[in-house]
Order: sequence, then structure tokens, then C-alpha cells
Amino acid sequence: MFNSAKFIGGFLGSLLLVSPLLAEPLQHKLGRIATDKEIAGWDISIGPDGSNLPEARGTVLQGEKLYQTKCAYCHGEFGEAVGRWPVLMGGEESLATMEPVKTVGSYWPYATSVFSYIRRAMPFYNPQSLSDEETYAITAYVFYLNDLVDEEFELNNESIMEIEMPNSAGFYGPDPRPDVQNVACMKNCVTGQGL
Ligand code: HEC
Repeated sequence: MFNSAKFIGGFLGSLLLVSPLLAEPLQHKLGRIATDKEIAGWDISIGPDGSNLPEARGTVLQGEKLYQTKCAYCHGEFGEAVGRWPVLMGGEESLATMEPVKTVGSYWPYATSVFSYIRRAMPFYNPQSLSDEETYAITAYVFYLNDLVDEEFELNNESIMEIEMPNSAGFYGPDPRPDVQNVACMKNCVTGQGL
């Protein structure tokens, strides 16, 4: 028997499938299409290769002043942390010990990721409030606290690529854990009994 409901459903379904191919995009008449400028505001990730880094600069000395007003009351004057807020410096050689201390210096693999994180997420109470200049300056100061640059250093979109992060070789793939590498069982699998 001819099932008209099924037929109409299938017909509508195929319309939905082919619609991306039509000249007019499918519109729900809700809201409006985001502008390139709006998308750019969200798309602020910076790659380890430096892609998407903004062109700007800031020095350790400029960063010190900004850090002391905007960051020190949580992370400590020297990155040593106040109370239980995260520590930002030290921890060298501690990751493989019973008491690992993850900091910018001991853990983070790329200088660009530190910049990207601070620009995106800090200060904690007001993320994305820093200008690019302020972010370069503050990040330079955080690197200085970790002995990665000297106090004369100017951080910018080029000099950031020269910074060697101590733990950059600590990240590798493929993941060596056996449960991550196992081939998924598709038949005659253990059912869980007797485990
Ligand atoms: C109100 C307290 C507070 C202030 C002020 C603050 N932070 Fe943070 N910061 C945090 C917290 C909480 C985290 C951890 C967030 C998480 O894990 O999601 C963090 C994480 C970080 C980290 C990553 C630490 C790591 O190794 O995982 C960095 C780097 C950092 N903050 C830098 C800054 C800088 C630079 C400023 C000033 C612009 C700042 N923070 C201001 C609370 C604060």
C-alpha cells in the first residue's frame, strides 16, 4: 500500500539533504548570519606555529606593573601563588616525581599557548579584557618569572617563536597507554562475566 506519510517524510528528508547544494542556504528565519568581524572575535585560537598571533609587543618591565595590579593577588608577586590559586613558576624537574608541580615553566609545551591562554582566560574575574599589548607584556613577565627570558626582553609576534619551553619534548604521540591503542572488539567479545 502506498504510504503517503512516509513518502512525504522521505521527500522532505531528501530536500534537507540536498539543500546545502542549492544556491540559497536553508534559512530558519531566526536571527541573522554572523558577520566576518563577529566570527573573528570568537576565533582567537593561536597555533603552536604562531598562526593567528596578533601583531603587537610588550616588555617584561611593562608586564611587571600590569601583572602586579591584575594578577598578583591570586598568583602571587613572583608567581608563587596566594593560598590555593594556581602557581605560575617553578616546579622544574618535578613532573615525574610523587609531587608534580605543573607551572608555565615546568609543564606548558608552547610559548604561544601561554599567550593564547592568558589572552583568552585571564584575569580570571574579567577574561578577554587585556589588550594585545598588555597580553604580550604580562606574558613576557610570566616567562621572566620562569627564567625563560631576561628582564630586557620584548615579547612580540616574532620573538615569541624563539622561546624554548623546558617541557616541549614532554608531549608526544601516539598515546602510549595500552587501553588507548587497543583495536575495538567487534565479535566474540568478553561480555563482562568472570572479569
Ligand atoms: C581571581 C584570581 C585570579 C586572577 C586575578 C588571575 N588568575 Fe590566572 N588563574 C586563576 C585560576 C583559578 C586559574 C585556573 C583556571 C582553570 O584551571 O580553569 C588560573 C590559571 C592561570 C594560568 C594557567 C596556570 C597553569 O599552569 O595551568 C595562567 C598562565 C594564568 N592564570 C595567568 C594569569 C595572569 C597573567 C593573570 C593576570 C592578567 C591572572 N592569571 C589573573 C585565577 C586568577
